[in-house]
Amino acid sequence: MTAITITIVLLIIFFFVLAGRLGKLMETAKEKGEESSAERLGTSRGYLFAGVAMLVAALLAVVYFYIKGTPYEGHFFEWLNLLVRWFHITIGIAWIGASFYFVFLENSLNRTKNLRDELAGNLWAVHGGGFYYLEKYKVAPEKIPEELHWFKYEAYFTWVSGITLLFIVYYFNAGGMLLDKNVADISALTGISIGIGAMVISWLLYAFVCKTPLVKNGVLFSIIGFLWITFLAWFFSQYFSSRAAYIHVGAILGTLMAGNVFFVIIPAQKAMVKAAKEGKPLNPELGKHAGLRSLHNNYMTLPVLFIMISNHFPSTFGHPYNWAILAAIALASAIIKHYHNLTEKGDPTVWMLPIGVAMMLGIVFVTAPDVNTDGCKDEVSFTQIYPIIKERCLPCHSSRPTDELYSAPPNGISYETPDVVVNLKDKIMQRVVLTKTMPQNNKTGMTQKERDLIQCWIEQGANL
Ligand code: HEC
Repeated sequence: MTAITITIVLLIIFFFVLAGRLGKLMETAKEKGEESSAERLGTSRGYLFAGVAMLVAALLAVVYFYIKGTPYEGHFFEWLNLLVRWFHITIGIAWIGASFYFVFLENSLNRTKNLRDELAGNLWAVHGGGFYYLEKYKVAPEKIPEELHWFKYEAYFTWVSGITLLFIVYYFNAGGMLLDKNVADISALTGISIGIGAMVISWLLYAFVCKTPLVKNGVLFSIIGFLWITFLAWFFSQYFSSRAAYIHVGAILGTLMAGNVFFVIIPAQKAMVKAAKEGKPLNPELGKHAGLRSLHNNYMTLPVLFIMISNHFPSTFGHPYNWAILAAIALASAIIKHYHNLTEKGDPTVWMLPIGVAMMLGIVFVTAPDVNTDGCKDEVSFTQIYPIIKERCLPCHSSRPTDELYSAPPNGISYETPDVVVNLKDKIMQRVVLTKTMPQNNKTGMTQKERDLIQCWIEQGANL
């Protein structure tokens, strides 16, 4: 075991050093103007990096095999989750940040004053202790510069890390996170197939509709897109735990966005660069279609970001009509985005904003708990509810969980001392009574009677 691990680690280091060396050679070749050999070196370097990625996966598999079934298994997944998630949001911020920045540029360019003929616009900016001056060409510059910066790896790595996270959090632990016996009694394999199948089908459908004339009709296209998202949210809520249902809608939207970059936007940019290098006329349709896909991405951003943070907000995913809540928030946020886009273009269609905001407020109202104190006839004391908490929550929420999935209390919450229960009464109300999203997937079999008792105890002041 140790021998295999050491071999893999040494190979990773070796590949890495080699890739660095090739990178240097590539730079020298570029400086000498040997384009084809620079390209060949670049490709080999790509293969080396792919090799490193595979070796890292192999290393993780070996380590996992080694600690499977021991108390370290939960720890292993926690750190894998943390590191991949960290990477995912960092690279995702880089992607969406660049994309927001370019939308801002397009909307804010000076397009009229003191421009050279070949320019579409320019812009002055100050940032990070310096002044920046930027020019946008109408078509392409006379000569395409050697150093041209592309924005694509952010999108690809966001997608790859996102799918990895889906596996780490939901698929490797399908019983605990993806599935919920109270929703549907399906096997892990069926669940995972539904998730991945829906992702593939959604992309194919979207790519197909984008090839029909429908894509030119913005309103109709948006309505169809919205109905599809609503259908997905409803469909997943019939098979998955509520959190998993939400995250799958987000994963699909993210897949469409990354797919747009990979299959349409970057190929169009490559074709544009190629045509410009060869001095051939550009096909304006290419750029236009890529622009449209970018615009789709722009409208998907806010719904995706909401879904990614939604798992901190059980009043959304834990609502009995959680799929409708998701659809409504997606719609409201896209409307707000639309307002933002219009104002940046100098077209303040102000009525858009109140509609979006009113919808959001409506959602806040609809998700409000229906509190009813009438149900509590007798005073409920702490000694009545603490045994319930001990039985139903401590298997996970204690410093040494007995549940096989956790090696540490989830979210750092342990109910071993009474004052924690009192201090966290609002969260308990939210998760146990109102949204019933705890115990997780009701693994410990909490009854409605027990939930009612806890509700009464909290509503009567949560006294010790
Ligand atoms: C099967 C394991 C399991 C059981 C049993 C369980 N929980 Fe949890 N709990 C989790 C996990 C995992 C999380 C973190 C993920 C999440 O928030 O959904 C969590 C999170 C929470 C949170 C959110 C904490 C935060 O920071 O927002 C609260 C509150 C909570 N649980 C309360 C309870 C209560 C009360 C019980 C018993 C009635 C209970 N849980 C039973 C696994 C469990």
